[in-house]
Amino acid sequence: MNKGILAPLKKYIGMFSATILITLVIVLLQAYFPYINKIIVDDIVTNKNYSLINSVIISIIIVALFMCILDVIKRWLITNMAENIQKNLKEELLSHLRKKPFEYQVKKSDGYLVSYFQSDITLIALIYRDIFPITIQIFFQIFISLTIIISVNVKILLMGILIICLNVIITKSFSHKIKDFSTRYQHENAEVHRFLTDTLKGSKEILNSNAEEWEKTKNRNVLKKPISTSLALTKISALSLNINLFIYWLSFAMITYFGLGLVRKGEMSIGVLIATTTYFMSLLSPVLLLFEMNIEYKKALGGWKRVRELISQKERPEKNKTINESLKEISSCNVLDVSYAHSGLTKKLLNNINFSAARGELTLIKGVSGEGKSTLVQLVAGFVSPTVGKIFLDDLLIDDIPDTELRKHMKVMFQDPDFFVGTIADNLTFNKENITEEEIHHILSCLNCEFIYQYSDGIHSILDENIRLSGGQKKRLALARTILSKSQVLILDEPTSGLDMENEQNILNYLSEIKEQRIIIIISHSSLAENYADRKYELNHGKLEFQTLGGDSLARSNLSKPRD
Ligand SMILES: Nc1ncnc2c1ncn2[C@@H]1O[C@H](COP(=O)(O)OP(=O)(O)OP(=O)(O)O)[C@@H](O)[C@H]1O
Ligand SMILES: [Mg+2]
Repeated sequence: MNKGILAPLKKYIGMFSATILITLVIVLLQAYFPYINKIIVDDIVTNKNYSLINSVIISIIIVALFMCILDVIKRWLITNMAENIQKNLKEELLSHLRKKPFEYQVKKSDGYLVSYFQSDITLIALIYRDIFPITIQIFFQIFISLTIIISVNVKILLMGILIICLNVIITKSFSHKIKDFSTRYQHENAEVHRFLTDTLKGSKEILNSNAEEWEKTKNRNVLKKPISTSLALTKISALSLNINLFIYWLSFAMITYFGLGLVRKGEMSIGVLIATTTYFMSLLSPVLLLFEMNIEYKKALGGWKRVRELISQKERPEKNKTINESLKEISSCNVLDVSYAHSGLTKKLLNNINFSAARGELTLIKGVSGEGKSTLVQLVAGFVSPTVGKIFLDDLLIDDIPDTELRKHMKVMFQDPDFFVGTIADNLTFNKENITEEEIHHILSCLNCEFIYQYSDGIHSILDENIRLSGGQKKRLALARTILSKSQVLILDEPTSGLDMENEQNILNYLSEIKEQRIIIIISHSSLAENYADRKYELNHGKLEFQTLGGDSLARSNLSKPRD
């Protein structure tokens, strides 16, 4: 049993205990029905005690009614508990996904994240809604059936125990393979999710190849893989299940043979024989179900493992008052001796990088495609940690700054900006406080985003598939979103790429106007941007070379030096 999987139950211990209690009562009531057989055969039919008929029928109805009511309550409790656990897990995952290192998102890509929510959580919810409650019920059923059988005949009981032991041994011998196939199936399904999401998002393979190439592409294997794994899993599970089933029927034949021998010798009544075989048979379905549950549990554990992997990732530090105070007015961002290699790659992409960006300045970082500029952005923004070296906001190491604080004071405009389905205004003000509509209109006009007003609801138009923004429009809107945040540090990854000269100039002018209260780092290839930059660096073969100080910053005083 995976201990962590019990943890979510702690919060609902009352509900869970009530469920266990109700289950026990239901199982006890169920045990009454085989006993009825004995009364009917021995007392009513054999001893001709017909006066018992009415009370037997009434008792059946009362017990059945009581059982049904209890079952409704039990189901309600279980659903309530499982749905709440599912909701909590989704919330926990969401909050981790928002904070987690950016690299994780990039590496796992959207498809994995979709799969975390859709397939893993559904599987995990099964544990609390079906697997745990049914397993508990089965254990009670087995225990009660065995207790009743022991009171009738010890030999039959021993036979029952022997069969259960045999079943356990057989199931154990198969379980390793079942677990392996289940985990593989989960991973392959996640790959399918990722593949479908990538493809739907306008993916590379489809766009870059014609239909025939697409037919041939090896990625089709991604879709096929889970089928063969699922078939292998079914084969092995069905084999294990049916061997158990055969042993059970065989033992039923033996017990009936043995019992009939006792009846013949007059050592057991027919009613007791029927009741005993019924109790014995009532062991069959729960024991088999238990094995099936074990298979489902193993599958769900695969999902649980993948979700825990995400949740257990290192958190940033908690809130801290002194840090909040120090961040009120940030005067510089300093990168000291930073080197970085992407995980899995031995060669360093960035080698001993040093740079400073100061308040009131536009700092430009240029470099040819693939040099590592966007990677540097991820490092400075704290999404990934450098392999070596340190990054500071003034004298605060960014690793020591709580995530909420860092995100408040530093905003990144990504190279490929994205928007969620919601109004334009919601997209622009997401996660920001106190932004007025006037401010939104103002920034839109400053950045030439009047195209928004061609939609009938203006900034309240919903950005969905009906609104197709051009690449340049997306850039301007994303820049508006970043600037609206009023954060002190703005990191803009290619904010003007793909834009015409006029728009580019407009944006650079605007950034120059607002730079006084901010530290602005621009990643750009553009030569126009160079004219506006106060401080210029060039990334070249993993090294960042300082180029020049622009006019504004020459006059400026020294940057504050970080403490070591
Ligand atoms: N998560 C990652 N894992 C492994 N390699 C990566 C990862 N992200 C980027 N790379 C590799 O690192 C190199 C630099 O990528 P990066 O996106 O930082 O370049 P860039 O300078 O921003 O390029 P561009 O100007 O085209 O945007 C590339 O070779 C890229 O394939
Ligand atoms: Mg880039």
